[in-house]
Amino acid sequence: MTRTAPETMGETDVIDLLLAQHAMIRDLFDEVEQAPTDQRAEAFTRLVRLLAVHETAEEEIVHPYARRTIDGGDGVVDDRLTEENQAKQLLSQMDQAGPDAPDFAANLAMLRTAVEAHARSEERYEFTQLRGHTSQAERRTMAAGVKAAEAMAPTHPHPGTETATKNLLAGTPIAMMDRVRDAIRQAMGKNP
Ligand SMILES: [Fe+2]
Ligand SMILES: [Fe+2]
Repeated sequence: MTRTAPETMGETDVIDLLLAQHAMIRDLFDEVEQAPTDQRAEAFTRLVRLLAVHETAEEEIVHPYARRTIDGGDGVVDDRLTEENQAKQLLSQMDQAGPDAPDFAANLAMLRTAVEAHARSEERYEFTQLRGHTSQAERRTMAAGVKAAEAMAPTHPHPGTETATKNLLAGTPIAMMDRVRDAIRQAMGKNP
């Protein structure tokens, strides 16, 4: 069996893209935890943006596909959505209270535990099966949608994209997710 080179895998396979995002999310939790007080807000904003893009892309592109194609898809996806919604609630509370809130560190630890357990469950119960039940072409199509979402929220913005990113990914986490959702639907041709 031939193996795809790592640098091209991420470009074309939706599972590889999502796994890479899971790793980026873990790194960003590290960054927020370790950030000096005056840089914590900025790091937290990047984490919120990445989570908004990642979870929304999964909800719009990957979970619906998994629901239809994998064994016990409804149960697996419903469990993942429950986890995502719990994390979103906590994320919204933290965003509202701000990074200077006295319980920020405790909430961040709780969020990290929940998000990482959720990612492990996706990898174990959803992505493994999804890889087995989809063709390379299908995974490439889904990857294009996830990449369209990712392009809206680069964690290290490229020159020239910052204004658009700021406009799209401003406000509350829920508002960000709504805008990412609209943009994904447009990119996937679901809106007129
Ligand atoms: Fe997720
Ligand atoms: Fe995920």
